[in-house]
Amino acid sequence: MSDSNTKRLEGKIALVTGASRGIGRAVALRFAHEGAHLILTARTQGALEELDDEIQKINGGVPSTLVPADLTDFDVIDHMGAAMYERFGKLDILVGNAGMLGVLSPLGHIEPKAWDQVMATNLTANWRLIRSFDPLLRQSDAGRVIFVTSSVGHSARAFWGTYAISKAGLEMLANIYAEETKKTNVRVNLINPGGTRTDMRAEAMPGEDPQTVKSPEEIVEYFVELAEASCARHGELIEL
Ligand SMILES: NC(=O)c1ccc[n+]([C@@H]2O[C@H](COP(=O)([O-])OP(=O)(O)OC[C@H]3O[C@@H](n4cnc5c(N)ncnc54)[C@H](OP(=O)(O)O)[C@@H]3O)[C@@H](O)[C@H]2O)c1
Repeated sequence: MSDSNTKRLEGKIALVTGASRGIGRAVALRFAHEGAHLILTARTQGALEELDDEIQKINGGVPSTLVPADLTDFDVIDHMGAAMYERFGKLDILVGNAGMLGVLSPLGHIEPKAWDQVMATNLTANWRLIRSFDPLLRQSDAGRVIFVTSSVGHSARAFWGTYAISKAGLEMLANIYAEETKKTNVRVNLINPGGTRTDMRAEAMPGEDPQTVKSPEEIVEYFVELAEASCARHGELIEL
């Protein structure tokens, strides 16, 4: 972590989705340590408020911007884009981290509603974020986009159908966006965090001792590297 003289994201405006717990929460805290102003979104308002309390202890009382919302209410994403344009005129860092596992089952047993919910959360919401925030990212002198994927997004695993297919779509979404922004100041990358000690991991692997997998805090450095203005990576998948 940086000391106060070498904050690596000083003055950056960073939107982190899925900030209420797990990886998103740890990323938000680390970005705050690095001097970023955070826009935090998730459905659980109380958890966002608690996180903001923590962040204010780090930054001397500057409140984050909290957006308690369900990202599958896609209009909310458009309103966020418009409100942020009014307030900041740009977005420096977008971390598309919010996600859900859904039910693990054979393809033929997936309920259509469950399929739609996972696709809406893991894939469509991230496209809507691009749609809404692309103009703001281009206004930044170093727009940085990080999407969080999974190994099953590029390696087929039985019974992980909905989640895996949503992540495969997310990977193509990020790669196409990277192609479209090649000649701009925007850099777009994917991170596969690998097994990380969160609620989602516990849901996926109920028999596992959580202490045998790494903590979210152990992986946040990689997010800082991809968020920094000096990051030259583009269209890459970083596997942790
Ligand atoms: N943990 C792992 O081992 C692992 C491995 C590979 C990839 N990943 C990926 O890492 C990312 C973070 O996962 P995690 O492990 O930190 O999971 P987590 O602890 O379950 O956190 C998921 C986050 O997404 C938010 N979220 C879920 N649905 C939402 C919705 N409809 N609208 C708004 N926010 C929503 C949740 O907030 P609310 O419930 O408050 O809305 C929460 O903040 C995910 O994309 C996941 O697929 C995780």
